[in-house]
Amino acid sequence: MSTHPATYTANLEQLRSRVHARSAKVGIIGLGYVGLPLALLFNEERFPVTGFDVDATKVQSLNGDQSYIFRIPHTEIAAARATGFSATDDYRHVAEMDALMICVPTPLNEYREPDLSYIRATAEAIAPHLRAGQLIVLESTTYPGTTEEVLVPILESGNKAGLKAARDSQEFANSFFVAFSPEREDPGNDTVARRDIPKVVGGLNPTASEIAGALYNSIFNRVVPVSSPAAAEMTKLLENIYRCVNIALVNELKLLCLRMGIDIWEVIQAASTKPFGFHPFYPGPGLGGHCIPVDPFYLSWKAKEWDFHTRFIELAGEINSAMPYHVVTSVASALNRHKKALNGSKVMVLGVAYKRDIDDLRESPALTIIEQLQRQGAEVFYNDPYFRKVGQGRKYNLQMNCTPLDNLGQYDCVLIVTDHSDYDYRKIVSEAKLVVDTRNATRGIQSEKIVQC
Ligand SMILES: NC(=O)c1ccc[n+]([C@@H]2O[C@H](COP(=O)([O-])OP(=O)(O)OC[C@H]3O[C@@H](n4cnc5c(N)ncnc54)[C@H](O)[C@@H]3O)[C@@H](O)[C@H]2O)c1
Repeated sequence: MSTHPATYTANLEQLRSRVHARSAKVGIIGLGYVGLPLALLFNEERFPVTGFDVDATKVQSLNGDQSYIFRIPHTEIAAARATGFSATDDYRHVAEMDALMICVPTPLNEYREPDLSYIRATAEAIAPHLRAGQLIVLESTTYPGTTEEVLVPILESGNKAGLKAARDSQEFANSFFVAFSPEREDPGNDTVARRDIPKVVGGLNPTASEIAGALYNSIFNRVVPVSSPAAAEMTKLLENIYRCVNIALVNELKLLCLRMGIDIWEVIQAASTKPFGFHPFYPGPGLGGHCIPVDPFYLSWKAKEWDFHTRFIELAGEINSAMPYHVVTSVASALNRHKKALNGSKVMVLGVAYKRDIDDLRESPALTIIEQLQRQGAEVFYNDPYFRKVGQGRKYNLQMNCTPLDNLGQYDCVLIVTDHSDYDYRKIVSEAKLVVDTRNATRGIQSEKIVQC
């Protein structure tokens, strides 16, 4: 059934032509690690871009040509600002946008269940300002069904004009378009340009897919359409669960290899020479970041609604979350070999970011490791070129300052948690009394002081 097809067609044509002409006004909601680079990418491609964030300090920084993300220099912000980019915390500007991309956080709550409060709050804030013919794309990682079951109902019920999301091939004058398109960025990975990462898009109806696909095609080299938002949501989870499970596998095999006196790193390197059927994953001190330790549990939570238990996810979670405790035990036994107890020992932790060369602490295993070392009586220091201070987060309260990387001989143990490339590992090993290495950062260095962990 069609109502007011002429208006519908006019709205749609206007959106299509604006996307084509790069005059479509793009609003990015949530200017964090995902949203800010996305905003800059649209800006580079000459789209008029407005960033929305509830954090007034971020808005202020951006409008003052400043950056708060290490790898984005302030010159990039200034250049974007000079070509029209601006940030705001005022949702009334939503009405001026042609397309809105939502990049807000999707963490777990204290019971390790999905916390969709940021998506809900965003939808509630957008809804009163929606207008017919707009495109809304959710980019935040979440369980299959979120776009249709959570986002769309709030957008529909929260606007007074009675606007409805376009579904199937129905044509309503008062409709807006909705899609889900997962963010696939890998922070710190410079081997693939952002625009070379194919963009998966699942629209609520074919027109939403087409419009969202056309918009993303302006900034990404390849768009991969899937049949529904749920398929796109599930695609992102499959990717992250694949990583989570495979990392758990190598973490478990590492524990066995340590016991058997086999070097797991050598084994992975050798296995990687197989030209097919093997993709290397690497062990470490535990999972970190906003994605891999969190996203799989979005699916295991949703699966329960279907009376289904995702055993691989649970098992991987169990193994990966035990790794920081394994590191602490390894430090204790390495000190023991030096006739020292953890209690009272001075331990220098190198690297607190969750992975190499990034300024992101979220879910970092270093936080658990430091807490556990302190709990067992160690005097803990840290060094990380990306963090001058570690204060309080959702799950930690360390209040520590970065210690300069000199006089390493004063510590009973130097513990490498994050293998930043700035570190001179040879120098570290030569100065330290004992080095516990969770990342194989000391590969190639021969020394009795090194303990692989
Ligand atoms: N960081 C990554 O590498 C990465 C990669 C792929 C996917 N993701 C996913 O992308 C999403 C965003 O992650 P991120 O790392 O950019 O998070 P982030 O915490 O860096 O940024 C989120 C931003 O959203 C803002 N925000 C929160 N509520 C808001 C609201 N109601 N309105 C406007 N702004 C609001 C916050 O102030 C913050 O600036 C998450 O779902 C995450 O899982 C992240």
